[in-house]
Amino acid sequence: MDAKIIFIGNYKGGVGKTTSVLNFAQHFSLNDKKVLVLDIDPQSSLSEILVSKGNHGSLSKLPEKETLNYIFDLYITKIEKYNSLELRFDSSIIKRFKDCFDFAPSSLFYRENKGLDQLALMMKDDIQYLSIFKTWVDMVREEYDIIFIDCPPSDNLITRSAFLMSDYYVIPTILDGLSTNGVLHYINTIENTYKEYCEVGEDALLAKHFFGEKPQLIGIFYNLLRGQVNYDKAESDFVAEIDKYEKINEVTIPILKSKINNFIDIARKTWEGEVSNEKTDFEELSQEIMKKIQI
Ligand SMILES: Nc1ncnc2c1ncn2[C@@H]1O[C@H](COP(=O)(O)OP(=O)(O)OP(=O)(O)O)[C@@H](O)[C@H]1O
Ligand SMILES: [Mg+2]
Repeated sequence: MDAKIIFIGNYKGGVGKTTSVLNFAQHFSLNDKKVLVLDIDPQSSLSEILVSKGNHGSLSKLPEKETLNYIFDLYITKIEKYNSLELRFDSSIIKRFKDCFDFAPSSLFYRENKGLDQLALMMKDDIQYLSIFKTWVDMVREEYDIIFIDCPPSDNLITRSAFLMSDYYVIPTILDGLSTNGVLHYINTIENTYKEYCEVGEDALLAKHFFGEKPQLIGIFYNLLRGQVNYDKAESDFVAEIDKYEKINEVTIPILKSKINNFIDIARKTWEGEVSNEKTDFEELSQEIMKKIQI
């Protein structure tokens, strides 16, 4: 197996990235896919849910070597001081969630306040640091069909390294003017990040060889739709913006057919580490994505 890596991102906060990752992980596993979830949000809210609801104690008590922070921390020291050392990690960082899927947590309680945002600040903006994440993921990806990455609503060298190593990405958005503007900005950032390192940078040849092809946008999906609101105008304005962008940039930006409604049951179940039995929105969206990427 060679897992496909998908990141779920949007710089807009609260559009349902974390909720989507958890629901995708569950629905893909229910469809017999082997799933790994990686949380690179420095707030580690997904990790908190997965650790506690997955019966691994509490995130604040998790041994430090069982976090993604530990991996970044060690590699940063290795690169700075002992570059010829070869690092190996045991499997304790990867945990099982309810016999359903695997995950590797990050922690905001990691030593000396080295949350992922602090660790990202300790990295330099070059290929060596940007390769840390993929170097570790390559050691474990064989076991999986699919790896989901929950991204924060912000940019740092760790999120950039996630963009570079991913095969695909998905963007949840809310249908209002401001949020939809942010979507095009986000796509631009991904395109430019890839271009900066893998197409025009001084080490572009090496970077492209190492990271592979540019991540493909599986699609944008509308999230948190409220039953009583008419979205026709917001949607047609958004589609017009997308059309314009597609023409200018000669790219295709798919909008997924499945939409996710704002249901209290989805929110409630997600924070319990479960999926909604009442609502099938995420089941349908997961099927659509599986079909698109042919797994
Ligand atoms: N389909 C849904 N129906 C109802 N509530 C939802 C749904 N999806 C997400 N929520 C709620 O919306 C809020 C934001 O969701 P979530 O944390 O997943 O967004 P996010 O994009 O990951 O946020 P951040 O940018 O802060 O990481 C949460 O309180 C969550 O429970
Ligand atoms: Mg989130």
